Amino acid sequence: MKIAIRYYSRGGNTKKLADAISNAVGVEAKTVSEPLTEDVDILFLGSAAYGFDVDDEVKKFIDGISVSVGKVVNFSTTSVIKSTYKYVAKLLAAKDIPLAKDEYSCRGSFAMLYKGRPNSDDCRAAADFAKSIV
Ligand SMILES: Cc1cc2nc3c(=O)[nH]c(=O)nc-3n(C[C@H](O)[C@H](O)[C@H](O)COP(=O)(O)O)c2cc1C
Repeated sequence: MKIAIRYYSRGGNTKKLADAISNAVGVEAKTVSEPLTEDVDILFLGSAAYGFDVDDEVKKFIDGISVSVGKVVNFSTTSVIKSTYKYVAKLLAAKDIPLAKDEYSCRGSFAMLYKGRPNSDDCRAAADFAKSIV
């Protein structure tokens, strides 16, 4: 099974989850600045919410997908909303790319909120989630 991991992280919170997933499934986590170059069965796609949306870099990455993707599995860090799922779902729907129902999301530190998150428990849970998918 071919697996890829892409993520966007301004402050490093989502990168922590990407690295945990990377260790769990044995695939390098790359940023969304690196396009997919071959077909994949599963794409773990990580993002965070900024101003109630995902960053334009995530939009550009999804829009630029030109290979076959079996399904995308969303993971995210956020401080207010539950996850980035609905934003990512909308972008993927426009490209007819399937999005798994299951996702992993946890709190990410922002200003005085959620200091230290994602923490080691969050990262362990992300790793367990990823293992349950593959
Ligand atoms: C400029 C800015 C805007 C944000 N807007 C939202 C938001 O609309 N909803 C939300 O849940 N979290 C929001 N957050 C919190 C981030 O989603 C959270 O800190 C996340 O973990 C950042 O991930 P990163 O470190 O990978 O960039 C915002 C953070 C920043 C810096």
